Amino acid sequence: MEKDYITSILKEKRIFKPSKSFSKNASIKSMGQYKKIYKESIKNPNKFWAEKASELEWFKKWKTVLRKKGNFFKYFEHGKLNVAFNCLDRHIKAGKGNKIALIWEPEKGATKRYTYSQLHKEVSRFSNVLKYRGLRKGDRVCIYMPMIPELAISMLACARIGLIHSIVFGGFSSDSLRDRIKDCKAKMVITSDGSFRNNKIIPLKNTVDDAVKKCPSVKQIIVVKRCKNKIKMKKKRDIWWHKEITKKEIKDKCEAESMDSEDPLFILHTSGTTGKPKGILHTQAGYLLYVYQTFKWVFDIQDKDIYWCTADIGWITGHSYIIYGPLANAATTLMYEGAPMYPKPNRFWEIIQKHKVTIFYTAPTAIRALMKQGDKWPKSCNLKSLRLLGTVGEPINPEAWIWYHKIIGNKKCPIVDTWWQTETGGILITPLPGATPLKPGSATFPFPGIVADIVKENGKKAKPNEGGFLVIKNPWPGMLRTVWGDDERYKKTYFGKYKRIYLAGDSARYDKDGYFWIMGRTDDVMKISGHRIGTAEVESHLVSHKAVAEAAVVPVPDKIKGWAIYAFVTLKKGITGTDELRKKIIKHVADHMGHIAKPEKIQFADDLPKTRSGKIMRRILKAIAEGEEDVGNITTLADPSVVVNLKKDRIK
Ligand code: PRX
Repeated sequence: MEKDYITSILKEKRIFKPSKSFSKNASIKSMGQYKKIYKESIKNPNKFWAEKASELEWFKKWKTVLRKKGNFFKYFEHGKLNVAFNCLDRHIKAGKGNKIALIWEPEKGATKRYTYSQLHKEVSRFSNVLKYRGLRKGDRVCIYMPMIPELAISMLACARIGLIHSIVFGGFSSDSLRDRIKDCKAKMVITSDGSFRNNKIIPLKNTVDDAVKKCPSVKQIIVVKRCKNKIKMKKKRDIWWHKEITKKEIKDKCEAESMDSEDPLFILHTSGTTGKPKGILHTQAGYLLYVYQTFKWVFDIQDKDIYWCTADIGWITGHSYIIYGPLANAATTLMYEGAPMYPKPNRFWEIIQKHKVTIFYTAPTAIRALMKQGDKWPKSCNLKSLRLLGTVGEPINPEAWIWYHKIIGNKKCPIVDTWWQTETGGILITPLPGATPLKPGSATFPFPGIVADIVKENGKKAKPNEGGFLVIKNPWPGMLRTVWGDDERYKKTYFGKYKRIYLAGDSARYDKDGYFWIMGRTDDVMKISGHRIGTAEVESHLVSHKAVAEAAVVPVPDKIKGWAIYAFVTLKKGITGTDELRKKIIKHVADHMGHIAKPEKIQFADDLPKTRSGKIMRRILKAIAEGEEDVGNITTLADPSVVVNLKKDRIK
């Protein structure tokens, strides 16, 4: 799809302006207004952020907005606040206690709704459980849960008493979970007996049992009863949520801890170029402010909105735009447990109809998959409540954009194509829906306060349509502070290529009107169905299979997923590559890393293209996997003849 995608966006000339009625009621109403705010925000970013920060509630005011030390940045030092307090108590104090904070739609069964007051009570009680269990400020807690309300409650309870949460996506398997727990030395894991997906039960607790075998830091596991399936509860270590929360010692009130602005809030692991995932660290005040402000303007949130982001909370999108951003704005946020097509391909559209969702935020992969099911599914539901649509996670091809606009948005909803990353904390490049004329496939312009640019290898600004590396030239409050336990990796990855400039790892171009177009990753990170997966991580799971000697994986274009994983595998001497072995290897990766990392295709290869120093030439493998006749320069290969065989055996 990459080539098709690039050709289609290069040809893309259509422009969609926001309707007059949308602009009239929006918080940012015109490009003129955006440009004015943007200009001022760049001229004096500290003033801009300080003004916005004063909308939050502080226990103690900050002294400095920003302090820089080399490539490390601190925001609002000496200030004190609490994130959960700002997401709950602040609104209750303002008289919004009876407003719905969270709507939970399960895969099967009855919807649950929590008002701000009810959520506050649940969070306070669970904070007391965590304290009762001996956890103290600064301790790490790993959360490995399905999309159930207890997940939101756990996060907010951690934030309330200063624990650092590290959420692991429920689609990851035991090895990935183990590595993440070990990296942050979590003292506790919160999980559930299982999770429902497509009418199947995924046994999360068993995965946790497996993972913690090699994690001596974990002393306690709290388990939510979700599926009523049989699990083993280890004495003294494993605790049922429902039993603990109803103990008489557990009270309804829990004081919110006064946190320093730069105290850690959470760690979220993401894939990089090496096999070891990076623990991205976000801190309190800057992160909260950034998700607060971006949510407010990008989604143009208004009091009556019902907002739904379909991401999983195990990813950054869920952290920032299901929980912290919406709740900081006193919005009503919907959380859905199940899969997009279960029980039928109109599940998403039914949920929109049922809850009269007004703002809908999803990934291009989901849009493409739903589009393939045909228009009859969305047409079977009333989607009139929608007023704004959004996308995130990967580039959206204009064809999917137009379908989303026409069939889901009934040609009246602006689409915010939001570019950002786990590291950025919140959205950096995006339309503002009441202001920005949209071009399908473009994330358009930087958010106020963000100095985005595209530079060439030598660091000079790229010309329009020339393309280059996407960089951010100034710090912003929501940016990562470091890689947990590895300052060097932080400096090298993000500030190693250009001095004092944040390297995003994406290639992009801007057009003659200054619109940004994101093209894809420039490193060994793949986006598979919008999920971020490192080639090195998948390879390490492939070679851990007993039959495999060596492996290299590359992403290949896929019409629905955007990209799929194509693996080249060299087997150990004497082992023959059969279809059955192929299936076993794929299962091995799924069992150890997770289903999302399963190779779509495995090509057995006697040898891989390597340089004389033994480096695998991925560029050549990628060309072969994509079926290119011309695979480029092969003169640096130790044995150029391997290319011929690999081409011959390519799996179509
Ligand atoms: O390649 C870009 C792509 O997703 C990467 C970040 O992945 P992750 O940390 O998992 O966060 C995803 C959700 C914020 C980016 O480096 N990406 C994200 N949004 C877009 C995008 N690519 C194109 N257009 C987008 N709107």
